[in-house]
Parts: sequence; structure tokens; C-alpha cells
Amino acid sequence: MLKFVSAIAMAASLVACGPTEAPSTHVDAFSPRVSDLLERMTLEEKLGQLHQAAGGRSRNLNSRLTDDELDRVRRGGVGSYLHVAGAEPLAELQRVAVEESRLGIPLLFAMDVVHGYRTIFPVPIAMASTWDESDWEAATRISAEEASASGLHWTFAPMVDIARDPRWGRIVEGGGSDPYLGARMAAAQVAGYQGEDLAQADTILATAKHFGAYGVPTGGRDYGTADLSERSLYEIYLPPFYAASRAGAGSMMTAFNDIAGVPSTANETLIDGTLRGRWGFDGMIVSDWNAVAELINHGVADNRAEAGALALRAGVDMDMTSSVFVNDLRVAIEADPELLDDLDLAVGRILTAKEQLGLFDDPMAYHQTARETSELLAQDHRALARAVSTRSMVLLKNEADALPLGEGAGRVAVIGALATDAWTQLGSWRAQGRPEDVITLLDGLEAGAPEGVDVLHAIGADPADDDLSGIAEAVALAESADRVVLVVGEGYDMSGEARSRSDLFMPASQRALADAIFETGKPVIVILVTGRPLAIPDLAERADAILNAWMLGVEAGPALADIVYGEVSPSGRLPVSFPRTTGAVPYSYSEFPSGRPADPDLDRDTNRYHDQPITPLYPFGHGLSYSDFSYGELVAQNDAAGIRLSVDVTNTGDREADEVVQLYMRDPLAFVARPQLELRGYRRITLMPGEQRTVHFHLIPAQSAIFERPGSWRIEAGELLFHVGSSSADLRSSASVHVESGGTSEVPATAIETRTEVE
Ligand code: NOJ
Repeated sequence: MLKFVSAIAMAASLVACGPTEAPSTHVDAFSPRVSDLLERMTLEEKLGQLHQAAGGRSRNLNSRLTDDELDRVRRGGVGSYLHVAGAEPLAELQRVAVEESRLGIPLLFAMDVVHGYRTIFPVPIAMASTWDESDWEAATRISAEEASASGLHWTFAPMVDIARDPRWGRIVEGGGSDPYLGARMAAAQVAGYQGEDLAQADTILATAKHFGAYGVPTGGRDYGTADLSERSLYEIYLPPFYAASRAGAGSMMTAFNDIAGVPSTANETLIDGTLRGRWGFDGMIVSDWNAVAELINHGVADNRAEAGALALRAGVDMDMTSSVFVNDLRVAIEADPELLDDLDLAVGRILTAKEQLGLFDDPMAYHQTARETSELLAQDHRALARAVSTRSMVLLKNEADALPLGEGAGRVAVIGALATDAWTQLGSWRAQGRPEDVITLLDGLEAGAPEGVDVLHAIGADPADDDLSGIAEAVALAESADRVVLVVGEGYDMSGEARSRSDLFMPASQRALADAIFETGKPVIVILVTGRPLAIPDLAERADAILNAWMLGVEAGPALADIVYGEVSPSGRLPVSFPRTTGAVPYSYSEFPSGRPADPDLDRDTNRYHDQPITPLYPFGHGLSYSDFSYGELVAQNDAAGIRLSVDVTNTGDREADEVVQLYMRDPLAFVARPQLELRGYRRITLMPGEQRTVHFHLIPAQSAIFERPGSWRIEAGELLFHVGSSSADLRSSASVHVESGGTSEVPATAIETRTEVE
């Protein structure tokens, strides 16, 4: 009723004030400064704040905007630019906004700073493989320091979309397949980007994207429908967003796609109901690129004004590039003045973000050119990139200790075009990363070679083309060598946005090259370069060792040398399973058991394929070490303080190494089927030879809560089984506890952090 009355009053005042005046209704919801601005802004200025324009060619550090564009800023017709960069050119643009526009509202400058700005770190799926929160936070902290030094306030990262189908090319941009791991990574990345205080000039706003189920498009095809159950949505796909929200993420981006027919950019139930309503997220929400206008293509809006009204009403504050909000919302508002309410909230949130960044107090704080010079690609940034890269690599196979290569390994033929491909190491979203900054895999192997190792190189074949003419030379080189390091996989342009693939085998040229090299009979160590899990059954069978190096960024070469020559023991763990074949995806270790659980040894009538083993080629959590670890008994107890579990882990090998201790849960009996295993904790530890440490996990019963319906999670009384081990398929010890029913909880169980301690 109240809303109705105020809508009528607003409609009357809108007419009375004329088309450019916009009486404000939400002044009390914001700070005095924001409220004051809301009261003084015209409708045109309000719509302008909602508009995010593309900087176009100004992504280049030296470029400038055109005079027309500057005039638009003077008129208050734009609130933010994306794909712009550079402390000095952006200072000029900001000066025009604050000195020459009527209200002097500063602009927000944004970019996809996803895995580094100039110092490029491993691609996110590789970062996820470290299972190390301090790495995630430290790398994003450095990214923020560099980006903010270059005039940026806002990054469109982290991408927190859970993905279980590697056909989807954007799996490279996220934290993998698991909601618990994904939630932890999301929170750590938000902390890194935003630092302690957003008002500091070296912090930037983080964006958790793409809300809410972009990572599960039908058939793995980018932009496609997510046709999934409400339970999966709330238990698997939303928890990382919840974690990001709890970590204080300043913004979220809605997804391009629809969930069961409702485009996320127009999903009022999810944005207003769950994200803002139940979770209390009070940050800014931006659409994805042109996604507001694309509501027409989805078939839920008839025209641009209708599309704008749908998105605004759902809770989208800023329109990335479609210009619908700035150009077409006026028509929608005239038809439905209630939208003024939503408009004020949207403007208020955008101004609040600017205020939190300190831009009203010091709009030039992000434009210190001296800082830009000293920060970008600083030595300590490269050093962290190298260390993180070593922890990102996953040793998938190592027969007869083929790795590491020690002194006297002799003539080593490094074969493959990817060994010298600097662009590929930069991966998808490279911000200001440059190929000349990259130390390639070959350069690293040459520079790091120990005594008695002679590194030779042949291209063989390039993943991007079908030319096989170089294979003969590569074979000749292999035959003249003592062993081969075969660098194969996908180029950077095969994963990322709009890079879905129907075939998860390596490109044909890479398979042909690998076949020819295996035929030489030489020992072969495969270095896999990829942005997604690939189906590599031939490599798994024929290679002596396989090191999954993903795409590692500027320090790819030195990091690879650290692992290959044994300076550092490999310790990365898969955040997503590797399939045996394309037809076996999507796959997850945490599927429900079914009424006929898959039995690898039973040849019929269970939940499996007839032509393939049901297990993945390499499971979630898998990753070998140069050392060995033994696990003691898992000890569990549940009392008033919560569920406490502990296990002793010993390095039984003869070298220092890291182990990632993983804790899985199983609820064997509940009112609905539960996953066969669910990750509920992990801890990376460093152990010297012979050293033993105790890892403690501390959970609360709500971590076993089961989704019933939005806003209601049930904690059931009964037994919970816990398993601890080295991967989801290498469980070493188990224990159970009894939990009491604990009522309901709003919080997604997979988003609750398990506290861990090491003694
Ligand atoms: C489209 C992508 O989906 C999104 O992730 C990105 O942030 C925007 N483009 C801006 O580049």
C-alpha cells in the first residue's frame, strides 16, 4: 500500500518537475553525501550514473577518449568506463568528470584484471590447483596494487562459477568443480583485491561473477541455459557467491545466461530475493556486456525499454555497454513511475561504491604515475608469480621416478610449439600482460638446466594449425636425445569466453606429434599446457610422466624448471577431474550414488558406461609428489564446541615436500540422496623428510545442512562419515560422528569455512 501511495506521489511529482527532474525516494538509505547527491540529481544525471561505457581503443595505456566522449562526461552521461587503463590518461578523464560536470561525480574505471594486471599469474583454474588461500590472496593483492597504480578502481573478478563440464571454455577462468574449494577461493580473492580498506588507493573493488549459474550451460556451450535443480543451484552453484558476499565483495555481475528460462539479468527472485534479501548483499550489481539489451534475444522483453525495466526491477544497478539504461529507461519510467524507486536505489549503490573507494575525497588518488612505474612487474611480484606457479602445476603421472631430471640427464629434446609460445602462457584475460614479459617454458628449461643436461628444441607441430611437416625433424631430434620433454596441449585461444569445444581430446596436430614421439621409444615426459581438463588416455598410457602445467603466466619457464629439475616438489592438486573421453562429461566426484551405484568391477546394470570405466582418468584432488606421505588414524569427536577431527601426516620420503591434506564428508542416510563425498576442508602443509605434523579440522553441524527450499536448510540428526586423504580417490583414514538435528539455517553448508590448524 505504502509503495502504491508513494508511486502515485512520484508520478505526480515527475510530471510536475518536468522530464529532467527526478525526485528522490531513498535518500535515507545512504550516507549523507550520497543522499544529498540523490536529491540534487536530474533524471538524466541519474540515468548517466547507471551507464558503463566501453573505453574501446583506450584499453591501451596511451590512448585517450574522443572529444564527444569527454562532452558526455561533462553532461554527467556516464558513470563508469571499462577496458580503459593508464594513470595519466585516466587522470585527465577523471579531472573532466570532477571539475567540469555539474555535480562533479567521479567516474569508476574498470577492467577484467583476472589473474594479474601486468604481472600475469597462472590462469585461475591453475591458481585453484594450489589449494592455498594465502596464494590466492597474495596474487590478487598484487594484481590490485598494479591495477590501482594504473588508474583502475574496479575489476571484474573473481569468476566464481563452479564448472563440471570442461567443454565449457570458461572453466579456465574459475576455481573448478567444487563449491567448498570455490567458496574458499572466492573469499580469499575478494580479500586480496579489496585489502583492508577500500578507501586506500591500492585497493580495488572485486566483482563476483557471473551470478548465479553461468558455469553449467547445456552441452557446455557458452551462454546457454542452465537447466538445473533448485538443490544444485543452492548447494553447488551459489555458495561461492555467498562466500564472496560475506567476504565483503563490493560488486557482483549477473550472468548472460538463463536458469530454467529466467535470464539472470532479469531474475528478481534470485537477485532481490536471495542475494540482497536473504544474504544481505548491499554492493553494486552490474550486468554483463550488453546483457540488458540481450533480454530481447532471450525473448522475455519486447523492446529496449522493457528490457531495461526488467533488469532494473530485478536489481541490476549498472548496465555494461548496452546503453539501455541511459537511453531507454526514461520511456519505461514514464510508463511505470514505480521504477523511480529502483532507479534511486541503483544510483545510490553506485555512488556508495565510489564513496567507499574514497573517490569523492580524493578523486586523483589512483593516478600517481610514479607508483605506476614502480609497481608494474616489480621484482617481488615476479617472485610471487614464480612461487605460485610451482604450486599450481599438477604431477598427474610419474612412472619409475621419470621426474625430476637430475644432473647427468644428458641430451633432453624439448619438443613442441607450446614450449616457446609466450602468448599462451598469458592465457585468457591478460589485462596489460605482454608476451615479452614471459619467460617461456623452453627459456626456463635452458636457463635452469643442471650440470650434464643439454637442452635441445624442435617445434614439431603447433596446436593452432594442422601442418605436420615439422614432425619429422622433431622425431630426428628425439632419436638423437636421451629423453624427451614433450610440450603439448591447447593454445590460449582454445579456452576462455566463447571457446567451448565439443571434443576434449588434444588438437589433431598435438596427437600426431605425441604418437610420433612415443614411437621413438625414448623416455617421454609430457608437459601439458591447457586451460581445461583434457581427455588424454594415450598420454596416460604411454608417457613416463605427465606434468599438467596449465598456463602459468610471466614466470612459466623458471617455475617449470623448478619442478622439472627437482628444486621444488610438485604439490598442485586438481580442482576438477580429468575425463577419459568427451562423452564422460560432466563428471563430479560428488555425484549422488543412485539406486544402482556404479561398481567398477561389476560389468552390468549399474550407473556406468558400457564402453569406459566410470572413474575419471585423474580424479578431483589428485596430484603426485616427489615424496611420499603416510596418514595416521582420523580421530573425530563432536561436542558443544563442534565437530573436531585430527590426523597425523608424516613425510616418509627423503625430501622436503608439500602435501595437501583433504577432508571429505558423507551423509549416508538423509531425507534426500546426498553426494557420495563432499569436500569439507583441506590444508596444505610443508614437511621435511621424516617430519610428522597433526592437522586439525574444526566444523560446525550446519556444515551438514541440506537444502530444503530457499531460506530453509535442514540439519538432520544421524551419523556423518568423514574421510581424510590425498585425493578424492585416495582416502587413507575414516571416522564418524553423530550430529543432532539443529533446526534450519539460511547459510549454504558448502560456503561455511572449516577452521584448520597445524601442530
Ligand atoms: C563479458 C564477460 O562475460 C565478462 O566476464 C567480462 O567481465 C565482461 N565481458 C567485460 O569484459
